[in-house]
Amino acid sequence: MYWLGIDTGTGSTRALLVDEFGKVRASFTAPHEDIKMERPLWAEQRPENWWDAAVTAIRGVLSAAGASGKDVGGIGLSGQMHGLVILDGNNNVIRPALIWCDQRSQAQVDSINAIIGKENVLACTANPVLTGFTLPKLLWVRDHEPEKFEAVRKLLLPKDYIRFRLTGEFATDVSDASGTSLFDVVKRRWSFEMADRLKIDRAILPQAFESAEVTGKVSPEAAALTGLSAGTPVVAGGGDQAASAVGNGIVEEGIVSCTLGTSGVVFAHMDRAAYDPAGRVHTFCHAVKGKWHVMGVTQGAGLSLQWFRNQLAPGTDYDQLTAEAAKAPVGSQGLFWLPYLMGERTPHLDATCRGGWIGLTAKHTRADLIRAVLEGVSYSQKDCLDIIEGMNVSVKRIRLSGGGAKSAFWRQMFADVFGRPVATLETQEGSAYGAALLALVGTGAYGSAEEVCRAAICEVETVTPRSAEARRYADTHKVYKALYPALRPVYGQIQALD
Ligand code: XUL
Repeated sequence: MYWLGIDTGTGSTRALLVDEFGKVRASFTAPHEDIKMERPLWAEQRPENWWDAAVTAIRGVLSAAGASGKDVGGIGLSGQMHGLVILDGNNNVIRPALIWCDQRSQAQVDSINAIIGKENVLACTANPVLTGFTLPKLLWVRDHEPEKFEAVRKLLLPKDYIRFRLTGEFATDVSDASGTSLFDVVKRRWSFEMADRLKIDRAILPQAFESAEVTGKVSPEAAALTGLSAGTPVVAGGGDQAASAVGNGIVEEGIVSCTLGTSGVVFAHMDRAAYDPAGRVHTFCHAVKGKWHVMGVTQGAGLSLQWFRNQLAPGTDYDQLTAEAAKAPVGSQGLFWLPYLMGERTPHLDATCRGGWIGLTAKHTRADLIRAVLEGVSYSQKDCLDIIEGMNVSVKRIRLSGGGAKSAFWRQMFADVFGRPVATLETQEGSAYGAALLALVGTGAYGSAEEVCRAAICEVETVTPRSAEARRYADTHKVYKALYPALRPVYGQIQALD
C-alpha cells in the first residue's frame, strides 16, 4: 500500500508515494506555466494549470511505481501559501490567482489597518496584515475589478483548489488558513471579526480542518482523470512550509529548519502561540495538531539564483554556478547581494524594496557576483534565525532542506554564516513528503505527526562552521545589515517610476 503527497509548488507540482514506513517509493514532477508578471512585483498563475499539472503528476507517479489507484490508501495535499483563488457560483475560476509573492496590495493593507487598527489585526490573527497575504489581494480585486468581486462565492488557497477538483469539497487546513489574514491563529478558527468588519461574506470561507483530518474522498470524475480510485480519503494537509516542516521532522521545540526553495524559510515549532510584536516573522498554526510555528521568510532565496541563471547564464546548471562561486573568496571581495527581487518580508516587511548588487568594482568577476548572491540569501536567512531566537524560541538543531540544500558549497556557507552546525536529512523531499506523512496519520497508520516523524525521519550529514570563515561572515553580515536602511529612502522613488 502507498500514501500519496501532492505539492502544488510555484514552479511545478510534485507527486510522491511513500510506503507504510514513510519511505519514498516514487515521485514525479510536472512543471507549471511561467508566472505571469504583467507589472513589477505582480505575480499570477492559472489554477487550472495547477490542476492539469496535478493530473500529470499523479498519473506519472502511479506509473513510476507500477501502482494503480487501489494501491493508494490516502492522499495529503500541500501547496504554495497565501494565493487568492476565487470561484463563482458555478465553481469556475473567476480570474488567475494572485500568488504569494504578488505585492500589489499595499493600499488595501493600509485600508485594513485603518478600519481594524494595527493592534487589533494582531489580536485577531496573531500577525500584521501583509501585501503577500490573501485578504488584501481579495480587497484589491474588490477595488479594481468590482464585477469580478461581486461574482465571488468561494475563496480557496492553491492546494485547496486541487482538493476541490479531487473531491468536490471546499476545505482548507489551519496552517494554510493562517496566512490569509482572516484566521484566528490562536483559536485555530476563522476570524469572523476580520471578515465581518471588512464586509467579507463568511460563506465564501472554506471549512478549516486540522492537517491530518480527512476532508473528503476522491470523486468518480477525478478518479477517471487521474487513475486514482474513487473514495480514496484526502486529508487536509498543510501550507507548503508547515507540510515541509513535517517532512523535516520539525515537530518539537528546539529543532529548526531552513528551507531553500523559491523563497527561503526559517521555521521553528512552538508549543505556544508566541509572536514578534514587530510582526517581522509569521506566527501560524502548525500542521501538528494543537501546535504552532514561527517562520521568517526571505522572498527571493532560490529565486535570486534562478533569476541570475535565467538572465545572465542561460543554459548553465546550478552545480556549475556554485562551482564557479567557490572560486571567489569569502565575502566576495566586498560585494553584496540584496535579495529583494519580490520586495521583502523578514526582517523589513517592505513591498517596495528592490534587489541588486552593492559594492561592484571593475575587479569583480562573475564568480564574485554568484557568490554574493548565495551570501546575500544566507545573511537574510540568518536575520530570520536571529529574530526567532530573540523571541526565546529554542534553537538546538538546524536542518537544511529544499533545492538549495542540495549544494554542498551552499550548505557549508550556511554553517559558516549561521556560525552553527547544519544537518541534512536522508529524505529531502520537503512539502510533498510531509503531505504524504500527514496522509499516513490521517488514515490511521500512525497516531500523530510526531509518531510518524520519529519512525521515518533521520539526519544523515552535519556540516560544522569553519572558525575563520564564520568570523569573517560575522563582520560582512554587519555591512549587509547596514545596506537596507541606507537604501530605503530611494525605494519609494524607484517605485514611483513604474
Ligand atoms: C510562506 C510563503 C512561501 C510560499 C511559496 O509564507 O509565502 O513559502 O508558500 O513557497
